[in-house]
Amino acid sequence: MSDVHFNKKEGSKLKLFTPGPVYVPERILKELAKPNDTHRSTPYSEMHQLAIEGLKKLLYTKNDCLIFTSSATGIMEACMRNLIKQDEKALVLSVGAFGNRWYDTALTNGKDVRKEEVEWGKAITPEFAEKALSKEKYSVVCLQSNETSTGVYNPIDEVVPIIKDSGALVCIDATSSMAGVKLEVDKLGIDVCLASVQKCFALPPGLAVCSISEDAIQKSGEVKNRGIYLDFLTLKKKNEVHQTPNTPPIPQIRALVAQLDYILNSEGLEKRFQRHKQLGMRTRMWARDANLEMFPEKGYESDTVSTIKNSFNIDYSKMVNQMLLKGYRIGNGYGTLKNKTFRIGHMGEITLKNLEEMLEVLTDIISELRLKNLGR
Ligand SMILES: Cc1ncc(COP(=O)(O)O)c(C=O)c1O
Repeated sequence: MSDVHFNKKEGSKLKLFTPGPVYVPERILKELAKPNDTHRSTPYSEMHQLAIEGLKKLLYTKNDCLIFTSSATGIMEACMRNLIKQDEKALVLSVGAFGNRWYDTALTNGKDVRKEEVEWGKAITPEFAEKALSKEKYSVVCLQSNETSTGVYNPIDEVVPIIKDSGALVCIDATSSMAGVKLEVDKLGIDVCLASVQKCFALPPGLAVCSISEDAIQKSGEVKNRGIYLDFLTLKKKNEVHQTPNTPPIPQIRALVAQLDYILNSEGLEKRFQRHKQLGMRTRMWARDANLEMFPEKGYESDTVSTIKNSFNIDYSKMVNQMLLKGYRIGNGYGTLKNKTFRIGHMGEITLKNLEEMLEVLTDIISELRLKNLGR
């Protein structure tokens, strides 16, 4: 088993249908192995500029985009440190474990934050947002587009304009949807739209990116004790000369540039978004045919991560282990949803054919486990 998990010589041979990190294509692994110049060199700056231009196109925005040497949580923390003054209140609209992370990040940074949450499996509706916003005056509102624990996709196209009308800055954690689902930052008026790259980008972990509005940058200038490493103003200033303030993971940025070029110029944005829609629909069709119930409320199911209920009282840890023996990694439920749900990640470079092959194997394993449950 350990050979399959972590083969020292060849790397992992598992086919990943995980909620991240996901499968990284060979062409990207080759990019990572190329030699680089230093982060203060002209070749680096040219590369950095290409990354930022690509991100702007991906996010349909004229806002600046920033690159962080951290995972997504780093930018979530940056939002808290940069955007909330001591006498201001923030609001988190939570639909699951990562909504709660927004809240914990604010609390542990000493910020005054409220959490309004829905039952897991449900989404933030415009009505819910309106009611939450009517209670107090908030300067920043944070939520997820795609909640990776419950597999819910919030209707941000309807909710973000309502938040903007309240006068608050809006931070969207798009970690498990950016580069898989269309996110129109300028049209919606999102102030910070963030993600790490080990999910729909199909890159290895180690980097996070965000778009940032002029209003958010201006606000940072008014907030004290922003620290050094996650300071929006310092990052923005260095971005203007196509650099980062500190030494970035240069090979990862090379890979990001290559992948953005692939997404924008080879696959094409619309095709990529359509492929993810099909992957989501196909997985839901499979679940329905297998008499398995989706965890999210109908109409809010994610096209990148499917969270599926334990309709047959199967031992999902066993199921995940049996899939490993067949060369596939899928995800058990997240946190308190472990064994109550399992998750199939269908993001990044996964094709419909890849998905069909995996689902065939999974169908057999589920049938066997159900028979065992029945004592046959
Ligand atoms: C929606 C969402 N937000 C935040 C995170 C945290 O991301 P990271 O591990 O890149 O910090 C994750 C990770 O799975 C996620 O799915």
